[in-house]
Amino acid sequence: MSKSAVTPRLEAIRYSRGSLSILDQLKLPHSSEFITIANCAQAAEAIKSMQVRGAPAIAVTAVLSLAVELPSMVEKSADLKMFVRMIDDRLEVLGNSRPTAVNLFEAIGRIKKILSQATAQPGNNSNPIQNLSSTLVNFAEGMLEKDISDNRAIGSYGADLFKGKSKIKILTHCNTGSLATVGYGTALGVIRALHERGQLEHAFATETRPYNQGARLTAFELVYEKIPATLITDSMASFLMKQEKIDAVIVGADRVVANGDTANKIGTYQLAIAAKHHGIPFYVAAPLTSIDISKSSGDDIHIEQRPANELTHIFGQRLAAEGIEVWNPSFDVTPAELISGIITEHGVVLPELSQNCFDLPAFLKGVAGK
Ligand code: MRU
Repeated sequence: MSKSAVTPRLEAIRYSRGSLSILDQLKLPHSSEFITIANCAQAAEAIKSMQVRGAPAIAVTAVLSLAVELPSMVEKSADLKMFVRMIDDRLEVLGNSRPTAVNLFEAIGRIKKILSQATAQPGNNSNPIQNLSSTLVNFAEGMLEKDISDNRAIGSYGADLFKGKSKIKILTHCNTGSLATVGYGTALGVIRALHERGQLEHAFATETRPYNQGARLTAFELVYEKIPATLITDSMASFLMKQEKIDAVIVGADRVVANGDTANKIGTYQLAIAAKHHGIPFYVAAPLTSIDISKSSGDDIHIEQRPANELTHIFGQRLAAEGIEVWNPSFDVTPAELISGIITEHGVVLPELSQNCFDLPAFLKGVAGK
């Protein structure tokens, strides 16, 4: 991986055909350095180390890393079978990076479908390897473009929830903005849209312990975008809800399962409980690629455990007493009954009131039928 210093820009991913680099988010907010990603192994390392993070950005980086590595695989492949086997190996490496955000696995699933179609019907095409490679590059580039338009739609549907209201105050958690996506953001996209419409009075961002995505990244984005905002520690959230009369909590998602149970950054669950206590709506903003209807409840979600030093240290400096044991789940699961609505690029899904949960399979069926 080569490194180059650049002026700060709110872009997590830079891509042009054949070339991919990502903003090293571990260096923010102190410096903005882009790292070149030349292949899937480097992308998997960057995802694991959280140089790139956020469910949509992880998936897009993974898929684009395959796109930039394809030409060298084309060269090495004696036949289609060998080419597909090489791609499968890369997909496995990518799939072993981080387990909770489903967007990565959704993208891998779609690539596998393309692979099986190509091998099932190589047809009479004279260059099946090159054709498959082009299809995959187009797929990856399509994902890049779609992420931004999806986020803008999420922002717009989310802001519509507050139609006719002004001076809205929103509390958000973790980082769900341009740095976690290709651009604009999901929960932060809703905040952005409210600000663009002149309806936002203030955004509040949690620090998001232990890894401080709120303090390091969301604060950086909010200042950059000149959105009026205040940073709080996670432990201040309940008191803030009481004092500031927050209008809504809006968070992102790493995996929303069939009944609406939602895995998101650790600390989301306690915000949802506090919001319920204070009668504040709690929304999840997520693209359809974050929805996993293969799992019926949040109990089935694999929660990633992160290394202890992400909790005991900050920027390499030890905070916690030497020798203490650490529990560091990266995500928690907010039960559907605490969620007021799920804001997607196809509109806001509301809970089935009689059952206290969501029917996401029915929602997806409706979207597919449109
Ligand atoms: O561990 P991270 O920083 O990848 O966790 C990110 C989150 O939990 C986000 O809320 C989620 O991925 C949605 S990003 C649009």
